[in-house]
Amino acid sequence: MLNHIFDTHAHYDDERFDQDRDQVISALPEKGVCGVVNVACDMPSCQTGLELTKAYPFFFCAVGIHPHAARSFQEGDLETLAAYTKEQKVVAIGEIGLDYHYDFSPRDVQKVVFERQLQLAKDLDMPVIIHDREAHGDTLELLKRYQPKGIVHCYSGSAEMAKELLKIGMYVAFGGAVTFKNARKTLEAAEAIPMDRLLVETDCPYMTPEPFRGKRCDSSMIVYTAQKLGELKGMDPQDLLDQTWENAKAVYQL
Ligand code: NI
Repeated sequence: MLNHIFDTHAHYDDERFDQDRDQVISALPEKGVCGVVNVACDMPSCQTGLELTKAYPFFFCAVGIHPHAARSFQEGDLETLAAYTKEQKVVAIGEIGLDYHYDFSPRDVQKVVFERQLQLAKDLDMPVIIHDREAHGDTLELLKRYQPKGIVHCYSGSAEMAKELLKIGMYVAFGGAVTFKNARKTLEAAEAIPMDRLLVETDCPYMTPEPFRGKRCDSSMIVYTAQKLGELKGMDPQDLLDQTWENAKAVYQL
């Protein structure tokens, strides 16, 4: 069995865990999971994330407003987020960014809310967790301008863009999508990431790796992602999990 699985990006507050959340989470350590960062997508999920960190010793959380929820941003939210970060197990501002695939919030609103949170992370000296879907140009431009530390999650850009992110100093995280049939471009990008900047994640309950694609994902399924990335890097999957755990501790300052 593989161990030292550190899931740098999960959503256990999602309603798809409502029926059996405690059962699923409690079973993770015996499946080799040593840490999970529950990532918020709106103000209510920040609170649920905080509750999870209190219930489970191996849980940490990030607080922030996802581009989908940017249109519900209110003055005062930044102060609330800043207050949350005073809690011991809050390790990042996230997830924040731009999503031009769904466009659930108007793009100009997404940008404003993204920039406000990039500035907040700078002010608080905290890492960020970046969501970028079909918004590579604008995302890279803002990251270059603000120079945050942190992670680009579920990376879907090119190898060239990945090199730009490395120059800024960011970490790049890969999830179940590397196991999909059409993953060629993503695998090329992963190949360009040195081992000290690579992270693994699930984005569970979404992005379930093969051979379970279509089912609900949980953090133990990172083993399939680690096997695929290990093949790519010519590494034993356990060595890859050991190294990415060290990277996770470095970026989240654990
Ligand atoms: Ni996510």
